[in-house]
Amino acid sequence: MARSIMITSGKGGVGKTTLVANLGLALARLGKRVCVVDMDLGLKNLDIAMGLENRLIYDAHDIMEGRCSLQEALVQDKRAATLYLLSVCKTISLDKIHFEDLKQILERLKEQFDLILLDCPAGIEKGFQYSMLLAEEALCVIQLDIASLMDTDRVIGILLRNQIAPIRLVINRVNPSYIQKKIQCTLKEALDYLSLDCAGILYEDPLILMGNNLGNGKMNELSRQCIEALARRLLGEKVGLPRYKEKNILQKILG
Ligand SMILES: Nc1ncnc2c1ncn2[C@@H]1O[C@H](COP(=O)(O)OP(=O)(O)OP(=O)(O)O)[C@@H](O)[C@H]1O
Ligand SMILES: [Mg+2]
Repeated sequence: MARSIMITSGKGGVGKTTLVANLGLALARLGKRVCVVDMDLGLKNLDIAMGLENRLIYDAHDIMEGRCSLQEALVQDKRAATLYLLSVCKTISLDKIHFEDLKQILERLKEQFDLILLDCPAGIEKGFQYSMLLAEEALCVIQLDIASLMDTDRVIGILLRNQIAPIRLVINRVNPSYIQKKIQCTLKEALDYLSLDCAGILYEDPLILMGNNLGNGKMNELSRQCIEALARRLLGEKVGLPRYKEKNILQKILG
């Protein structure tokens, strides 16, 4: 039976979808059968982050309406044979989706996969509410700014009230020079504020931005290590968080 993990944040644009795409791939490369589910409705973009937008034909609503089978709605990733994407509603509003039907589809997915990652929309509306009823665990993606921390704090309160456990943090777009200049708060300040375990961190990486747009999952070596460490930690391995090493003066000059 699969573990189902919702990836949420409260604040929008903090990197949930990018994380789901990259973490899904890392878990699949570690030998797990993974299904990533796009719960972002109307504004879905997980397919684009994975470079699968041309292969996405059906969604969960089509399964419910009998237009396709579950297998037909699942889109296999191009890079990992054990990674699949399911979009809940690629064109219509979530209001047309009956929760009980969606729950049934998730139950069937749980029999086929080891891990299900639910990519939540920003905020705490229906997509978030449905995800909370479908998932057992949560990863909250934060950035090191007060708006992100406050929104996530509110989300954590809701998750706790709904018995989601464990709830872990992923700190995204960490920029050591911003921390030094106090543009970003420190990791410790963020963790103290939210009082939760940190499952992983990801540094600011222009290649991630590019990889996201091209749907090829490109990232620098440190980001790759960070994603792999997060995947391994989720699977229960004792792996430390990779550290950013300040470039020496020669590397800086050579770019
Ligand atoms: N570590 C990173 N370094 C640089 N850019 C990043 C990083 N993580 C995410 N981004 C970029 O941030 C932008 C927002 O990311 P993404 O769409 O994954 O956020 P989101 O939380 O899913 O947004 P939404 O709330 O709208 O669903 C994207 O352009 C993405 O490429
Ligand atoms: Mg998103």
